[in-house]
Amino acid sequence: MYICICNAIKESDLRKAARTCSGNAETAYESLGKKPNCGQCLIKANGILAAERCELVAL
Ligand code: FES
Repeated sequence: MYICICNAIKESDLRKAARTCSGNAETAYESLGKKPNCGQCLIKANGILAAERCELVAL
């Protein structure tokens, strides 16, 4: 599922970025070579990053 339409970033892309970089959605986008445009996805993206990192801690 696409989370960021402006950059065609999928949930799976964000989950991978959560494992390889720290920081918020803007940092994760940067690690993917992207940057926010409209910003409507950032709250959802930050939630996905947090969820993925919590799942890593729980393992
Ligand atoms: S939907 Fe992500 S910046 Fe616009």
